[in-house]
Order: sequence, then C-alpha cells, then structure tokens
Amino acid sequence: MHSRIKNLRNSSAIANLTVSNASRRSTSNVKPCQLKLIVAATLFSTIASAVPKFAKARETEKISGRHTEETNRDDPDRLRAVVSIDTDAPSTPYSRMLFGGFIEHFHRQVYCGIFEPGSPLSDDTGFRKDVIAAMKELKLAIVRWPGGCFASGYHWKDGVGKTRTPVFDVVWGVEDPNTFGTDEFVQWCRLVGCEPYICTNAGNGTPEEMKDWVEYCNATTGPNAELRRAAGNAEPLGVNYWSVGNENWGAHEIGQKSAAEWGPLVKRSAEMMLDSDRNLTLLAAATPNRDWTLPLLSTAGRHLEAVAIHEYWLPFWEIHFKPDYDSCIMLSEGPEKTISDVIDVIDEAGFRGRIKIAFDEWNLRAWHHPGFMRKVASDPTDPAVRAFIDSRDRNADASQYTMADALFSASFLNACLRHAEDMSMANIAPIVNTRGPLYVHPGGVVRRTTFHTLAMYATQLESRVGKCTIDTVSLKRNEQSLALTAKKVGVFHAKNFRKYTDQQIPTVDGIATVDESGKNWSIALINRDPSQSVACTVQLNEISLEGTFQATILAGDSAEAFNSIEHPDRVTPTARALDFADGVAQLPPHSLTILRIAPKDL
Ligand code: AHR
Repeated sequence: MHSRIKNLRNSSAIANLTVSNASRRSTSNVKPCQLKLIVAATLFSTIASAVPKFAKARETEKISGRHTEETNRDDPDRLRAVVSIDTDAPSTPYSRMLFGGFIEHFHRQVYCGIFEPGSPLSDDTGFRKDVIAAMKELKLAIVRWPGGCFASGYHWKDGVGKTRTPVFDVVWGVEDPNTFGTDEFVQWCRLVGCEPYICTNAGNGTPEEMKDWVEYCNATTGPNAELRRAAGNAEPLGVNYWSVGNENWGAHEIGQKSAAEWGPLVKRSAEMMLDSDRNLTLLAAATPNRDWTLPLLSTAGRHLEAVAIHEYWLPFWEIHFKPDYDSCIMLSEGPEKTISDVIDVIDEAGFRGRIKIAFDEWNLRAWHHPGFMRKVASDPTDPAVRAFIDSRDRNADASQYTMADALFSASFLNACLRHAEDMSMANIAPIVNTRGPLYVHPGGVVRRTTFHTLAMYATQLESRVGKCTIDTVSLKRNEQSLALTAKKVGVFHAKNFRKYTDQQIPTVDGIATVDESGKNWSIALINRDPSQSVACTVQLNEISLEGTFQATILAGDSAEAFNSIEHPDRVTPTARALDFADGVAQLPPHSLTILRIAPKDL
C-alpha cells in the first residue's frame, strides 16, 4: 500500500486510475488522451462490476472522479488520500444560490422561529434579531416560502392587508394566524440580505391566483398593486424567484396532479405569471423520475429556468429514531446520484445547459410529523391528533444533530459544486428549527453542527470550482450499526434503509475552489472515517504541498458530538495550521477541513 502511493506521485501511475470531474458527463469535447483514460477507467470498472456486491459502489466512484481502494482496517498505514488539482484546467463559476434555505408554516419554523412578536429578542415587527444575525453569518443567498405541502393549500390573500383572519391549515392540522404573510416574508428577507423565493399553490389554487400574487408583489399599477399599497407597501416588493407548485406528483399533496395534467398547468401558469412580469425566474415542481419530468419539460420547459427537486435521505417522518453516525454517513453519496439522474432527464429533454437544477428542499433527515401531512381537515380536539402534533417537539432533540449531519451536508454541497454547470440553487430544509441548522428557543439560538458546515462553505470557499481528482480508500458499511438501526426502524423501513445506504463510499471527499485570478485556492476536504485520521497529500500540478498552511477544521470530540442549549459550542470550527510534512497532512476523523492556499504559501 505504502509503495503504491509513492508511485502515484509519478504522473503515469495517476493517468491509468482516475477520471476527472469535469470530463465526466459531456463526451463531445473529449480529447484523444482523455478518451484513452475513459477506456482505461471503463475497463477497470467492468472488472469491478464482475464482483456484484461492489458493483454499485464502483459505478459511483467512476462517475465522480474519486477512486477508492480496498483496505484492511488493521493496516496502520491504510488511510491515505491523494488530492490532485490541475491548476491549468479551466474552472467553473457556481451560483451563490447554492447557499439557500427553505422555511415552511410548520411547527416552530415561522411562528416562534423567525417571527416572535413580543419576544425580548425580537424587533418591533416581531422578527427575532438573533436569528437574522445568524442568517447573515450564513451569507444566506435565497429563502423559499411558504411551503412545502403547506403551499398547496395556502391562499396568499389570507396573509396580506391590515386585518388578518386566522385560517385552519388542513395540511398540518393547526390554525395559522396569518400574521406572517407575503409582506412580512419579503421584509424579513431584505433584513437578512437574501432573495425571497415564493412557492405558489398549484394544489387547490389557480393560475389566476398565481398571477395575482406576482402582481401584488411586482406590479406598479392594477388592483393587486392597490391591495399592496393599502397594506402599507407602496413600492413593489421585487420578488423575482417563483416556483409553480410543490411536489404535485405526490399522493400526499393537496390537489395531486398526473404527469399529463402537470405540464399544461405549469405552461398556463407560467404564461400568466410572465404576462404580469417578464423578468421572473420560474421553476416548477419536478422529480428525477423521467415519466414526470420529461412531459413537464417538453410542454413548459421554455418558460422555466430550473426544475425544483426535493430529497431527504432518511425519509422516515413517521418514526422517531436516531441512526448512528456509521449508518448515516453511508448515505453521503446519495446527492451525487440524484443530481446525476436529474441531469440525465434534462439532457434527454434537450435542455441541458439551459435548464438547471434547484434542490429547493434537501436535508439528511426527513421532518418528524407522524399522522400528517393531510388533505382533509383533522379534529384538533381529538387527543390522538393532539398527540401527533405534540410529537413534533421531538424534532428539537439536540442529540440527533451530530457530525453525521455536518459531513452529510458538506458532501451534499460538494456534489452541487461538482455539478456547478447544472446547479442553480439549493435550499436546506428548513433553515431554522425542525431539522434546520439553527435551533431557535425562547432564550436564544443554538448553532447545530450543520450550521458550521454551511457557514464555512458560504464564507471560506472561492468563487469558482477547479479541476480536482481524489485517490482515496473506501469506507465500508458497518453492518452491525446497520443491523442495530434496522432493529429500531422495523422490518418495513429496514429494507428501505439498507437500500439507501451504500456498501462502501470514498473515505475522503472534497472540492477545490479558486478565485477569478486563478491564484488563491480554497479546498474543502471531508474525512468520513468515524475513528481514524487520514494521511492526505495535496498536489497542485503533481507538486505535493509541503509546509504549513492556513485551515479551518470542524470535527467535534466524537462522531456523535452535538450542540445543545447546555453546550452550544461543543462542536465549533477552529482555525488551525495544517502541516504537510513529507507531503502528508493529517485529516482528523469525522472532520471537515477547509485548506487555503495563497501564492505566498507556494
Ligand atoms: O416533511 C416536510 C415536507 O416534506 C414538505 O412540506 C414537503 O415539501 C416534503 O415532502
């Protein structure tokens, strides 16, 4: 093992084993030498696929420019990674909207989350000032509202004007006071410094209602502009980002649509909304499933900038369970697969490069809300319903949000950045409370582990994605941990859980970013191993780094470490020098490292 790594430093050895990120998808601009590479890689992977139990893993690694190697855990020298950056290769700009958030009228996200009139921590309007400050730390670029499933039953006029009437929200089984509506949402976004993004009601709403909403926000004249003026906002609110619908493909959604109905509805809605404001950036609810998304794109694609995709990689919203780090971390390659699948559908529809992907709801864990969502009204006085609603407090159990969440989120962002050409937006769901990076309580806030990942990516990466390949070892699934988790979730879910978790994943994942000058690099490196550090070599054009470099590391004192009201700073990023001695630096176990390389360091 040791000798092989050394070889890797000589270019020929590298050439035969890795495939770079950039050339992964588009075969049209493949140069002859690259073709040789791909053939070699294909040959290699065919052999790998001969061993069925590892086939799925091999496929993943071939696609994403990371190469893994089998190891035995007792070999002290076993955990190594070689990160190779080609500084001469073209770099790709990425959208700041990848650092976005989502908020829904669910439990304590809006009310007692971002909005808490009368709290000593709130301003005169009722916005929690400490939450706004934290959102600014995240350099939050855009926020999607009002839902989620809630949107498919929400009528925006209930939330505007001087007098607001409470409405019973069928979806989540509670009364919504409607004191937080369109004007409050946009005002909050302006205070945070992010773009407002509105999800329209394509459930029991109409295209006319969507058009009116656009006019309420953006028109200068007309009845809806008058309505806004009467509500206190003479000036247009300037909402540019709009999506038509939320998950209307799902049986759980109010006003579920068939694929045949969806395209025409989106087309009509888009035409009416664009009649009111030509400059809108329009998205529509879609999925990686080509039977839904192909007809949507062929019918309404010309009006859309992006398709809206959702995924929670632990989709168990009815049961309350805490799979351990070892189980969760094996989901880390999920985002790469989903993004690749959606790119395939957009490609097939002929919109590659024109229509992007907006992952406008993503998180490791699905929200805990047994007994809901619903499409018909429930009886809030029914003790069973009450019990369901009260159980949503379990989302607040701090011990659930460990280094698994922090590193899964980093892997998610790496996958988005690797596909910078095809990704226009990503919104962690939600941004506060429930499974969000920020826990908001009456006395203050707690920055959960994921908060620090998002802040590190949004504030420390450079503006372009460079060409980077990673040669690393594989992390194998811990079958014991899986068996334990399976026992907790029961037979039905166990099968699914097993299906989602890969048998092996690259131990080290990473992304290299560079500034416009091409001289300043910022490299995010994840060591997913729960207990061992990784000896990491970083090469710029095959020259290994040597010496001390600036870095920021998020690791926690254990893989299961978490932040809470009692210990809000147990897991925090630390600025540290990273020493490359003999071309090797140690990445701590269960850690995220952002390494900065400036010309003066080389
Ligand atoms: O669990 C929350 C729900 O998940 C959101 O409302 C919906 O969009 C997604 O299915």
